[in-house]
Amino acid sequence: MGIENVGIVGWRGMVGSVLLERMRAEGDFAGLTTTFYSTSQVGEPGPDVDGAASPLVDAYDLAALARHDAIVTCQGGDYTKQVLGALRERGWAGYWIDAASAKRMDDDAVIVLDPVNRDVIDRGIDAGLKNYVGGNCTVSLMLMALDGLFSADLVEWMTCMTYQAASGGGARHMRELVAQMALIGERSADLLADPGSEILPLDARVAALLRDDAMPTENFGAPLAASLLPWIDRAMENGDTREEWKAFAEGNKILGRSGAPIPIDSICVRVGAMRCHSQAFTIKLRRDVPLADVEAMLDGANDWVRLVRNDKESTLAELTPAAVTGTLDVPVGRVRKLRLGPEYLGAFTVGDQLLWGAAEPLRRVLRILRERLA
Ligand code: HSE
Repeated sequence: MGIENVGIVGWRGMVGSVLLERMRAEGDFAGLTTTFYSTSQVGEPGPDVDGAASPLVDAYDLAALARHDAIVTCQGGDYTKQVLGALRERGWAGYWIDAASAKRMDDDAVIVLDPVNRDVIDRGIDAGLKNYVGGNCTVSLMLMALDGLFSADLVEWMTCMTYQAASGGGARHMRELVAQMALIGERSADLLADPGSEILPLDARVAALLRDDAMPTENFGAPLAASLLPWIDRAMENGDTREEWKAFAEGNKILGRSGAPIPIDSICVRVGAMRCHSQAFTIKLRRDVPLADVEAMLDGANDWVRLVRNDKESTLAELTPAAVTGTLDVPVGRVRKLRLGPEYLGAFTVGDQLLWGAAEPLRRVLRILRERLA
């Protein structure tokens, strides 16, 4: 069976919009018949791809969905749970490509990140698996950045301390962050405008605002601007948050080594960046490898990772959310041996969580499936 007839669900949301943008940019719609689905605007014109917009179809119309060779969804986990099982029960044997986490850890699903795990994806296709799911954004960006070390099987254990952007929570969270920043800016404008004013009154003004009811916190539950939130997602039994657990569980599944997992521990923190997740790593190498060799392994392990020199100028120019946002680059820098001993490595990475962290692996696995099944 080839893949020619594709359905796309959840294309209007943030990840879906970025996915469409990337698919248009890469010419992915050429040769495809694409139907767009909606849960709320059935019959209205869909997005224009390759000069043709057709009406939106009901995203719960199983008969319509079942006509596709592949369905790509960014609609979320509840939709996956509601629709995928019902489609399979009807005997649908097409490919399900999903951004949501609902099916990620199931045995009949492959987590896709092809620059890192093309072999795992190919084995899944050969074994007849039909569900291909994008990984958690932080995990995918960590694996892209450290691809060279994982490929050489050099990581004995590691920690990821994350600095995650507002976009990970969703579009409303991004707006809330900017609204918080705006409130702080507006309400301290008089003190800021006077360069001679003391700093402590300005600090006291901002501190008071952070605790003021006027501060919008409906989505984050607390101020993020001028602060940070060391909790993402829900609690797990061992004291991890679910975001922290994913680095270990999904990370090892992506690498195809759930049977002999690498210990990965994290503390995941929300910071006031818009859409780039950053991470600081402490890595225990399996052996003492000279720093120059480590750098060479990291640099260019895939087409998107790039080593940033460990100096202030390069770091500020290349290793920040401001530098990386909106690009597919995954810079890795601050690479050095630690005082802990010659097998201990420190490193830092930044990546756009909507691109490699969400949309890009999905459009690429659609390409891979089309090529493999042609
Ligand atoms: N769970 C991630 C976050 C984003 O909250 O930043 C989605 O993978």
